[in-house]
Amino acid sequence: MIGDRTEFARRLLRWYDTARRDLPWRVPPVPAPGARPDPYYVLLSELMLQQTQVSTVVAYFHRFVVEFPTIQSLAQADDQHVLRLWQGLGYYSRARNLHAAAKAIVARHGGVVPPDVKTLLELPGIGRYTAGAIASLAWETRAPILDGNVQRVLCRIYGIEADPRDRAVNARLWGLADSLLPRHRVGDFNSSLMELGATVCTPRSPTCLTCPAAMHCTAQQKGLQDRIPPARKTKASPQERRWVFCVEHKGKWLIQQRPAKGRWAGLWQFLTIPAGERPPEPHDLAGLGLKVNHMVPLGTIRHTLTHRRYEFVAVACKLTGRLPASTQPRTWVTPAELTQYPLSRPQLLIAQLAFASSAAPQA
Ligand code: ADE
Repeated sequence: MIGDRTEFARRLLRWYDTARRDLPWRVPPVPAPGARPDPYYVLLSELMLQQTQVSTVVAYFHRFVVEFPTIQSLAQADDQHVLRLWQGLGYYSRARNLHAAAKAIVARHGGVVPPDVKTLLELPGIGRYTAGAIASLAWETRAPILDGNVQRVLCRIYGIEADPRDRAVNARLWGLADSLLPRHRVGDFNSSLMELGATVCTPRSPTCLTCPAAMHCTAQQKGLQDRIPPARKTKASPQERRWVFCVEHKGKWLIQQRPAKGRWAGLWQFLTIPAGERPPEPHDLAGLGLKVNHMVPLGTIRHTLTHRRYEFVAVACKLTGRLPASTQPRTWVTPAELTQYPLSRPQLLIAQLAFASSAAPQA
């Protein structure tokens, strides 16, 4: 059991001061104790961290702040520029939400990231966790946070064996996260809970021996670490197959933009359609009215998202006839020009295969 909450917070903060990772959106503890991080950095990092690990986010965070050093510069940026910088980080609605949030903060709040949870929740892409993180980390507002790491830490400390995603359990955990907030340094306290979950109180094989909260922890006292939280019941996600045609003409490649809504919205891709039962015919490519020759198989790229698995079967080919009309914007690009367009990770991998195949000597 947790016992003295003040003592718990004191231990956690003392541990955090020495053990915390040096991350670019945090301020270093020296030479300015008590200094706050830039609220724009906190907003940017929290949106990037919503579905992605710290180790992947760091490089993207640097790229963004070099390109857009202020919230004003991000608000003024072109949509495609923002998407291109986000390219490879996945879950692209986060990039659109970040951009829309920056515009709203400049238009409605004079460029100042709001310090309170209620106003933050009105911004696109900001839910209860992210609002609490921004308010507390950037502004020292007394607001709790509860992400996957904090859920696990609290479940173990309080010996809660039920599934933390269960509604009632989740509501209880939010209440506990709130009740634990210390009087001072709430931002660092919230960060310390996340940090503990990420580095010590890990899903498997937590290192309880080095844990600053071990003497407060029910799971460690009863040896329940492996049972808390309970393993998720996994359901195989549906698989979808796509054919991808990398159509080349005089050294340029055909790409088209995806619709403004849905998965990979606004990103560019080679001609990609749901896979049919029969292999495509070169004189009428999969019924698209496209005439091609020199079809070269490039391989299959598999890509797993949270609720979907994709299989992209890619071929390179050369255009021989005219290009039929399309409702989506299309363009022809050289490999060098392609770098100016945002593409999803599987499409980037396919581009590499296509360009390598055209550079190889023809049989
Ligand atoms: N995960 C989510 N927010 C984080 C933060 N500010 N630092 C480290 N990991 C995080």
